[in-house]
Amino acid sequence: MMRDAFLYLSHNRQVRDALMHLPFAETAARRFVAGEEPEDAICAVRDLNAGGMLASLDHLGENVTSAEQARAAAADYLDILDRIASSGIQSHVSVKLTQLGLDIDHDLALADMRSILDKARQVGTPSLRFRTGFVRIDMEGSDYTQRTLDLYRELRALGYDNVGVVIQAYLYRSQKDVADLIELGANVRLCKGAYKEPPEIAFPRKRDVDDHFIALARMLFSPEARARGVYAALATHDVRLIDWAKRHTAEQGIGRDQFEFQMLYGIRRDLQRTLALEGYRMRVYVPYGKEWYPYFMRRLAERPANVFFIARNLLKE
Ligand code: FDA
Repeated sequence: MMRDAFLYLSHNRQVRDALMHLPFAETAARRFVAGEEPEDAICAVRDLNAGGMLASLDHLGENVTSAEQARAAAADYLDILDRIASSGIQSHVSVKLTQLGLDIDHDLALADMRSILDKARQVGTPSLRFRTGFVRIDMEGSDYTQRTLDLYRELRALGYDNVGVVIQAYLYRSQKDVADLIELGANVRLCKGAYKEPPEIAFPRKRDVDDHFIALARMLFSPEARARGVYAALATHDVRLIDWAKRHTAEQGIGRDQFEFQMLYGIRRDLQRTLALEGYRMRVYVPYGKEWYPYFMRRLAERPANVFFIARNLLKE
């Protein structure tokens, strides 16, 4: 119920305009967002790198409504890729196709993606390409699933090997999508899914989503997938799933640096550090920028305790 309300509010412009002006909301968002400026993001990644962790930088923004906004978002990514290279931090980037103009025109988003991938290739030295010259396409709501996978496939057909995609375990369709991605030898981030989806297309119960997550992870770790060059990134803070993955990869003889765990900036920092210390490849998703509202609402939707914490502080304010 609370989850649905926050996911609904994540699209509401009036609430957004009101909330973004409240000083406490901005402070609260800072728990999940590295800051508004690229320098804030670089600084956050430097700290993570010092703790043995990698990062993926996300310049916040989605559903742009003009070609100018889409091109500006792409330009911001070119800029952050230059900054990644010049600062020497170990991070790749995550992008949303609706930020690059997918709602306006497929070819616009494709052209923006190509310029970002070309730049990523250019700045990622071959030995470090995996760490710095790689671009992950985030997965958005189900209206975009097929279009995102189609565009990913198109990029691969154009010869881009430094691009990866995301699969959401709450969608029934994901087993078929993972099977197709295995044939492509894809680099796949597996997550539970953060948007509001109807029961006709997505598991409503957490337990079913978790079981599906494990079934999909098994597919990505299968000998067939590995033989095709599939790389799995498990994006979750769920200790039960993380423990399962540790056991399963050990049983399958998959090294701790042959897949990765991913978590969000500001969430379960203790667990992030522990996994890195245990020798697992750990990547933290680091969002930054001024468009933090929808991202922040999705984080509130995930955990009622976050909302109570914020409500308490709002009352104090
Ligand atoms: P679950 O929600 O069951 O949480 C497990 C535990 O994690 C909780 O008990 C709590 O301790 C902690 N936790 C989780 N969320 C928290 C929060 N907001 N605040 C505080 N604690 C929290 N989704 C999507 O649809 N498309 C995408 O591209 C991505 N990309 C992505 C990248 C990365 C690196 C991560 C980690 C996640 C995503 N997601 C995503 C979001 C994902 O789908 C999911 O909504 C969240 O990760 C929460 O699910 P968990 O797997 O953590 O489990």
